[in-house]
Amino acid sequence: MKRDPLHLNPAGSEFPLILGRDVSGVIVETGLDVSYFKPGDEVCAAVPPWKPGTLAEFVVASANEVAQKPKALSHSQAAALPFVALSTWSALVNTGGLRKDNCRGKRVLILGGSGGIGTFAIQLLKAWGAHVTATCTANAFSFLKDLGADHVVDYQAQSVEKQLKEQELFDFVLDNVGGHTEKWALNLLKPWSGATYVTLVTPFMLNVDRLGVADGMFRSGATVGSKILKHLSRGVHYRWALFIPSGPSLDEIMELVDERKIQPIVEQIFPFSEVPQAFLKMEGGHARGKTVISRD
Ligand SMILES: NC(=O)c1ccc[n+]([C@@H]2O[C@H](COP(=O)([O-])OP(=O)(O)OC[C@H]3O[C@@H](n4cnc5c(N)ncnc54)[C@H](OP(=O)(O)O)[C@@H]3O)[C@@H](O)[C@H]2O)c1
Repeated sequence: MKRDPLHLNPAGSEFPLILGRDVSGVIVETGLDVSYFKPGDEVCAAVPPWKPGTLAEFVVASANEVAQKPKALSHSQAAALPFVALSTWSALVNTGGLRKDNCRGKRVLILGGSGGIGTFAIQLLKAWGAHVTATCTANAFSFLKDLGADHVVDYQAQSVEKQLKEQELFDFVLDNVGGHTEKWALNLLKPWSGATYVTLVTPFMLNVDRLGVADGMFRSGATVGSKILKHLSRGVHYRWALFIPSGPSLDEIMELVDERKIQPIVEQIFPFSEVPQAFLKMEGGHARGKTVISRD
């Protein structure tokens, strides 16, 4: 519905679909109403799920999805930020209510600290003065400590739940892992204190794919609603977060990059000719930051 609201494409013409949600590049042309950007500006953006295609040579984005690229970053570095940065922003700020001025000293647990979201979230929360505990495998310990994590927990060594129960309770949990984590992670929050659990791993897209837009959204609403009520009765907040495209939020994030409080974590750069290998690498899991496609 979102990709083709006027039903201009014949049925079944969705493919080939151009992949890619992050982009960093140079503006070649702007719409008549656009004044904030001009041709020649170096910008970056993350586009919404209904109009992917940033692996193409040219990308059309709405002005409110775009931000100025920090001058100190290369395009490959800048392209590693928008999607994970805005997904994290949606989870922590829009959904979880965390901000620069209310984070200091808060105890935050990040489940899944070593991937794209985790490595960005650690840096943002540390820039805002939170105390950050993150889960990862032992081989990512020093990586996450270098990013600023105060405490790291090996989720493979023994029961991660048991290890985390030995810690002081948390004010906030950001869940990038999902599945079984929901069964125990909310018990790690301080009850009746406004503590919040936000997960980025939700069945929302799966429901929409399986059931269609209306039924999928209804099913998702019913599921999240019942969970919110169940956990509220135990004194903690339960939330789902979804990526939201936003140039203005990206501008705020890029200020932290300019101040060198956040750096893009690029694990590997593939040339455009090796796009399939890049996707195979991602499918293999065990990310340590972001995989980037370069046009060169
Ligand atoms: N709702 C949304 O709009 C939205 C937006 C962005 C992302 N997401 C979701 O958020 C999740 C994280 O995204 P991402 O981009 O950070 O993924 P990613 O870059 O692939 O990273 C996942 C990380 O989690 C680690 N990991 C795997 N199992 C773990 C466990 N049980 N405990 C702790 N760490 C574990 C992996 O490393 P090892 O396997 O080596 O431990 C890897 O470093 C994904 O499920 C993604 O689909 C949702």
